[in-house]
Amino acid sequence: MKKLIDKLEKNRNLSKEELTMLVADQSAENLQYLNERAVAVRRSVFGNSVYIRGLIEFTNYCKNDCYYCGLRCSNRKADRYRLTPKQILQCCRKGHELGFRTFVLQGGEDPYWNDERLEVLIGEIKREHPDCALTLSIGERERKSYQRLYDAGADRFLLRHETANADHYGMLHPAEMSHANRLRCLKDLKEIGFQTGCGFMVGSPGQTTETLVEDLMFIREFEPAMVGIGPFIPAGNTPFSGEKTGSVELTLRLLSIIRLMNPKVLLPATTALGTAKEDGRAMGIKAGANVIMPNLSPTDVREKYRIYDNKLATGVEAAEGLKELELEMGKIGYKIEITRGDSPLCINTHKKQTN
Ligand code: 5AD
Repeated sequence: MKKLIDKLEKNRNLSKEELTMLVADQSAENLQYLNERAVAVRRSVFGNSVYIRGLIEFTNYCKNDCYYCGLRCSNRKADRYRLTPKQILQCCRKGHELGFRTFVLQGGEDPYWNDERLEVLIGEIKREHPDCALTLSIGERERKSYQRLYDAGADRFLLRHETANADHYGMLHPAEMSHANRLRCLKDLKEIGFQTGCGFMVGSPGQTTETLVEDLMFIREFEPAMVGIGPFIPAGNTPFSGEKTGSVELTLRLLSIIRLMNPKVLLPATTALGTAKEDGRAMGIKAGANVIMPNLSPTDVREKYRIYDNKLATGVEAAEGLKELELEMGKIGYKIEITRGDSPLCINTHKKQTN
């Protein structure tokens, strides 16, 4: 197995069979070696920097009905909220003071936030913070809508592909949603010029070693600037509320494989990883992740953005906990950088600042 890990480090094009062996392996010793190699590769590209993003969960309204997500429209128990532009700008101001140079606007697919309203908001954020990058994570839209948001100043876009296997996609989503449209969105985003992120949950119902290998091969081919992965965590009042939480070990294994396959990728140690296991975020960094996204939303809404149960939003998960996070990262030999933290894959093409 160590030979295979070395091979992956030298040559990202492992065969399907080889990737299957790497994903299916259960040995703790091999996992440790995989994590070490991923950290070495990560270090050669990013040194000991960890990039931070201020996460603003600006609406939990959603028109979709994904079986896994606590914000699904059928969940009548979800306590819905929508931040005002004023509140969002206030979050950015606070974030900027704390040292954030990337803001992530994340929300459900909320029809209130049409192109016009988003354009105005994006323009205001970029005018006030020309030194910051703006990431959107707002789901599927038409290509012309993505283009408008890009032209308004947004730099990056996160849209997890959820699974590279169309049948598996069908087990996670209602019939109105299509895998083909999800892939169309990702392709459009990348072509338009966004630093684009895809990703998936680890341990979602119906996932197999085979679908995970397909995910890895999709990522290898798509060459995203960012990849977000975290364990599936059951959410109350959803069809999957009784399912098992995804494996932290497997998540760490996949983080390392993704790092080795794509050395320059921006790879967050996600909140889901921190929620599934105490210390999960630090373990993610030690598996090759290099981004952390603390929560910058107003404190009174954090509890309401319940995509899954027991989601962390305090302590080092909170933007106010940045000092604590710096200490935690310092202990394991990393430092938090006050920069936009652009993808080295896109560094030459990234948009000119707006003043
Ligand atoms: N557990 C873990 N991750 C989830 N997501 C949604 N619901 C859950 C859950 N129950 C992830 C999805 C989605 C992102 C916003 O959060 O991958 O793309």
